[in-house]
Amino acid sequence: MNILITGANGQLGNEMRVLSAEHPKHRYFFTDVVETEGVHVLDITDKAAVSAFVAVNAIDLIVNCAAYTNVDKAEEDEPTAMKINADALTVLGSQTVKLIHVSTDYVFSGDEHLPCRETDPVAPRTAYGRTKLEGEKRLLAVCSEAVILRTAWLYSSFGNNFVKTMIRLGHEKEQLGVVFDQIGTPTYAADLANAIFTVVESPVWRSGIYHFTNEGVCSWYDFTLAIHELAGIKECRVRPILSEEYQYRTPRPHYSVLDKSKFKKTFGVEIPHWMDGLRRCMKLMG
Ligand SMILES: NC(=O)c1ccc[n+]([C@@H]2O[C@H](COP(=O)([O-])OP(=O)(O)OC[C@H]3O[C@@H](n4cnc5c(N)ncnc54)[C@H](OP(=O)(O)O)[C@@H]3O)[C@@H](O)[C@H]2O)c1
Repeated sequence: MNILITGANGQLGNEMRVLSAEHPKHRYFFTDVVETEGVHVLDITDKAAVSAFVAVNAIDLIVNCAAYTNVDKAEEDEPTAMKINADALTVLGSQTVKLIHVSTDYVFSGDEHLPCRETDPVAPRTAYGRTKLEGEKRLLAVCSEAVILRTAWLYSSFGNNFVKTMIRLGHEKEQLGVVFDQIGTPTYAADLANAIFTVVESPVWRSGIYHFTNEGVCSWYDFTLAIHELAGIKECRVRPILSEEYQYRTPRPHYSVLDKSKFKKTFGVEIPHWMDGLRRCMKLMG
């Protein structure tokens, strides 16, 4: 297959680039808004450019890793976030090729106390969540063949993320307050990339919405303790704090654990625990 991967400079996009080497039977076209080595320029909001790219390169499948992911900035500029996270999904979904799209736990309110299923009611509390939910809707309206993978708490050895921030702060500070009343599942973007290849290689194309994160649950506080332990950081005392003690610019979900039963059952796979993913990622980071 000829596979177009958008957002190839991001965390997930980079992991897709790494993993594509293990799936050499396909031909890959890596794109993003900024040109880098091996990555062509393609703005997913540019309908003419996307249509031309798909036609010229005889694309069979699009994996959309591109997104407007800055949750705080989306509050200040929802129209731009809407353009990239929603309007572009009409563009990508209208290309009459198969499509795998990545969405988020932020489509839910975060008020639940049980892992969210794909069929649970959505109620985004943030501009980012609203734009991602709208993207799902726009995509499903034009493309019945789409696969949507909702994920959460993504990190990678590529790009900036919570793991890297906590390692840096752990070296800089003697004390660190980290929230313990937000519960979720850290997800190694390499494991999500692997899940995407599971969908790609499935003998039968199974469209629909799926939840995919690593296994297990923790708070950001527990996650930080694990990161510091693996990084050998001993001099920084990590303190559990409440969300209200941290000046969040945007509300954060208190409980955003996703139920992955549908993905595991449909594709017959097991998913690594988040600690396992973290160990592999940090080993790579050195
Ligand atoms: N990060 C998380 O914790 C998290 C959690 C749940 C779900 N997700 C979802 O998972 C997916 C992957 O996230 P990620 O963390 O890998 O994101 P990321 O690192 O922010 O990467 C997104 C990439 O898309 C690019 N991009 C932005 N606008 C574009 C456009 N118009 N055309 C083409 N490319 C564009 C970005 O470029 P610039 O950086 O130059 O804008 C960036 O390189 C996204 O759909 C995200 O919503 C992420």
